[in-house]
Amino acid sequence: MKELFTDQVDSMKEIESRLQSGAIPWTTLTRNHGHQKVWTPSSIVGHNDHTEIAREMRLLSREVQIVLVGDTLTEEALPTYTNFLTAIQGMPDGYESNLQKWIREWSAEEERHGTLLDRMLFMSGAFNMDAYERSKHMLIDSGMDIGTQNDPYRVFYYTSFQEIATQVSHANVAKRAQEAGAPLIAKSCKVIAGDEAMHAKMYSSFVKTALDIDPDGMTSAIVEMMRQQVQMPAHLMQEVRADTNSVLEPGLLFAAFSDCAQHAGVYTSKDYARISGKLLSEWGLAAQNDDGKWQVSKERQLSEAARENVAECVRIQKVIERLAHRAKTPEIPDHDFSWILS
Ligand SMILES: [Fe+2]
Ligand SMILES: [Fe+2]
Repeated sequence: MKELFTDQVDSMKEIESRLQSGAIPWTTLTRNHGHQKVWTPSSIVGHNDHTEIAREMRLLSREVQIVLVGDTLTEEALPTYTNFLTAIQGMPDGYESNLQKWIREWSAEEERHGTLLDRMLFMSGAFNMDAYERSKHMLIDSGMDIGTQNDPYRVFYYTSFQEIATQVSHANVAKRAQEAGAPLIAKSCKVIAGDEAMHAKMYSSFVKTALDIDPDGMTSAIVEMMRQQVQMPAHLMQEVRADTNSVLEPGLLFAAFSDCAQHAGVYTSKDYARISGKLLSEWGLAAQNDDGKWQVSKERQLSEAARENVAECVRIQKVIERLAHRAKTPEIPDHDFSWILS
């Protein structure tokens, strides 16, 4: 296991203390509204909504339906993410620690997402739930391999990015559903997107804190994460092929799912580029000039080493944007998804 540097320990302690003092605000519905008032899956979609959900689901395009199933799968692999957070090095282990409380509260809020989406898939009658549930079983079994190790800096960059990515994806599915005349599905995805936006703020504050305490180490982790690209959490998704009863190797299903998301305009390489730029500017590391060109920001006092790291981030950001600009929208994949009833 990689040794944890003293600066990382100090950063984790500072995050813990800022959570305690309120300097990092708890941007969660649970903390702000209390358990009595948070939304539950049943408060959005109830027993009597079967017919409406079935009607609405038929109005969505095949790609949007597939994206919805893939998003559900991603949300329902929650045990993987909770494990992943608990294993971060430097995580205080006391029951009363604020970071442990955060993991529990975050998990409780996230759990609603998978439950609500799964319920809609089930109620609609439009999907092969047995095939979907086999994919879920395999995904939780596979976990994820995203190159963060247990390094808190890489993990908090990853979670900051991913919360925004899921927010974008759910919000765009909501938009597509609204356009198709499916208001209940739209409302559900919108409510979930709202949670993701709040979670993103928390993780972003963790990174900001690490930048205050250890700018050299945190900027170096950002460079590494930007260089290796941010993998999606469900990148190991698999399915059992109905025709051969064999398991499709990881990568192929995700590629087909991702093509559907891009084709439907739900999550594209332009979104990826926008998120990575947004984070750099949110943390006061880089800014765009009037011509939209990225440059190192003067907002933070940085050492020579940290400035070099940020200059590298700016260089990578430009490449990401160039590639996103050139990327062509993929064709609808010729993939026979086991999840969809034909
Ligand atoms: Fe979620
Ligand atoms: Fe989330």
